[in-house]
Amino acid sequence: MTAAAPAVLILGGTSEARSLASRLAARPGLRVISSLAGRVRDPALPAGEVRIGGFGGAGNLAAWLAAQHISAVVDATHPFAEGISASAAAAAGRTGVPLLRVVRPPWLPGDGDAWHPAASLAEAATMLPGLGDRVFLTTGRQGLATFASLRQLWFLIRCVDPPAGPVPPQCQVILARGPYDAGAERALMRRHRIGVLVTKNSGGELTAGKLSAARDLGIAVVMVTRPVLAAAPECSCAEDAESWLLRQLHRSAGA
Ligand SMILES: NC(=O)c1ccc[n+]([C@@H]2O[C@H](COP(=O)([O-])OP(=O)(O)OC[C@H]3O[C@@H](n4cnc5c(N)ncnc54)[C@H](OP(=O)(O)O)[C@@H]3O)[C@@H](O)[C@H]2O)c1
Repeated sequence: MTAAAPAVLILGGTSEARSLASRLAARPGLRVISSLAGRVRDPALPAGEVRIGGFGGAGNLAAWLAAQHISAVVDATHPFAEGISASAAAAAGRTGVPLLRVVRPPWLPGDGDAWHPAASLAEAATMLPGLGDRVFLTTGRQGLATFASLRQLWFLIRCVDPPAGPVPPQCQVILARGPYDAGAERALMRRHRIGVLVTKNSGGELTAGKLSAARDLGIAVVMVTRPVLAAAPECSCAEDAESWLLRQLHRSAGA
C-alpha cells in the first residue's frame, strides 16, 4: 500500500459494517478504517484497520476526517445510534467529505402480529403493566434503568455484556450475542412463560427470530420505533454501499 492510497471510514458496530469492511479490505490500494464506539467488551472485529472510541463530537470527527485524508464516509451504525449519525452528517457537511448511510430495512408487522408501537424506551416502560407480567427485554444494555421502577413485573433481560446500571428488581439476565433462530427463541419464551416482548425496531434477519416466535406463541410485542436521523443519502445493504464508495473513489481520482 502506498501513502497515497485513498482512505474510507466506516462507522460500524453492525453486521452490515463488517460485511462492507470485508468487501473493501479485499480490494488492493484502498485504506479501510472501521470505527467502533467501544461499548462491547469483546467486539466482533471487522477486516482492515480498526479504531475504537468516540471522536469527541462532530467538530473533532471533521478534524479527524481531514487529518486522515478520508475520501468518503459510510455510516453503517445501528438505526438507533443517533449521536454518531448526527456527528457524521454534521462533519460531512463541514468538510465536504461524501457520506452515505446504510439503513437496514425496518421490521414490519405481518398477519397475526400484535405490535404495540412505542416512541422511546420510556414509553415502552409505561405500556408494559397492561400487557403482561413476564417481560422479555431485548433492547440492549443501555437504557435498562428506564425499566428499573417496574417492581411488580418480572424481566428476562438479554444483552451482550452485563448491565452496568440499575435493573428491575425482579429479573434474570442472560448474556448472549445473536444470531438467534426462531425455534430457540420460541423455546426460551416458553420456558420463561413470557407474556410480552420488548424490542427496538432494529430490522435484519439475525435477530428477527424473536418476532416469529412471539407471533407463534401469541405474545404481545412492544416495538420501539426508530429515531429520525439527520438527513443523508441512504442505501440498504453493504453491497450497495460498496458500489457507492467505488463510484466516489473513481470520481475523486478523476477530479
Ligand atoms: N443503539 C443500539 O441499539 C445499538 C445496537 C447494536 C449496535 N450498536 C452500535 O453500538 C455503537 C454505539 O451505539 P449508541 O446507540 O450508543 O450510539 P450513539 O448514541 O450514536 O453514540 C453515542 C456516542 O458514542 C460514540 N460512537 C457511537 N458509535 C461510534 C462509532 N461507530 N465510532 C466511534 N464513536 C462512536 C460517539 O461519541 P463521540 O460523540 O465522542 O464521537 C457518539 O456520539 C454504535 O456504533 C452502533 O452501531 C448500537
